[in-house]
Amino acid sequence: MYEDQTVVSEDPILRLASCAEAGVEAVLAALPETAPMQGEDGDSRALYARIVMQDILRIRLNNHLDAYCLQHLMRTGHTEAARQLLTYLYEEFGHDELLVEDLLPLGFTRTDVDAAAPLFSTELMIAYLKFAIDVDGALPDFVWNWFVEWYSARYNPQIVKAASAAFGTGTARGTKAHLVIDDELDHEQRMGAALRSLIVTDEDLRKAEFYLGRIVRLLDLYCREMISVEAAVGS
Ligand SMILES: [Fe+2]
Ligand SMILES: [Fe+2]
Repeated sequence: MYEDQTVVSEDPILRLASCAEAGVEAVLAALPETAPMQGEDGDSRALYARIVMQDILRIRLNNHLDAYCLQHLMRTGHTEAARQLLTYLYEEFGHDELLVEDLLPLGFTRTDVDAAAPLFSTELMIAYLKFAIDVDGALPDFVWNWFVEWYSARYNPQIVKAASAAFGTGTARGTKAHLVIDDELDHEQRMGAALRSLIVTDEDLRKAEFYLGRIVRLLDLYCREMISVEAAVGS
């Protein structure tokens, strides 16, 4: 029990980043069909459109999730974490609109976007994280926000490059602008700092690693679902 209260000595974000990298790379390596998601294959316009569509829906749901977490933080008196999350939520608000612009040249309308449903795996991710907030407070939500920024900074530049080359720059302009905003606002670093402030003991770090593992498993489910729906549509 006393061991659980040990103050974390190494940088927890470095440790989480290496866990995230190992986990995501294993997911992508096991699913070569997701190559367009890594920017290695620009052939599948339909798959790319589906990825952008799901990104839009997930940004909207993430805002709902952060608002839910914010409510929890304010209710429990965690003022500093609430302030960080409120600032992040404010900065993220409307980013779905950037990506809608990319879908228009791919043949989709705003009405299509508003009528689209998230993949089941995305519903599971959001629902699971809501549950996790109820159990463990803001930590799982902060792990998720940091992971989203970490993932985007590492993988989205390749996707933008491949999509621009394959389908025209207009199909990735919004995603590219989104990356610039994330970079200017230093989102990956700032969400890393916000997460770091919640990790004080070894027990906190173990919990953060646990939730990161869950997130990677749900990402795996998302990739598999993306492929299977695509196969069903194409068959
Ligand atoms: Fe964003
Ligand atoms: Fe961001």
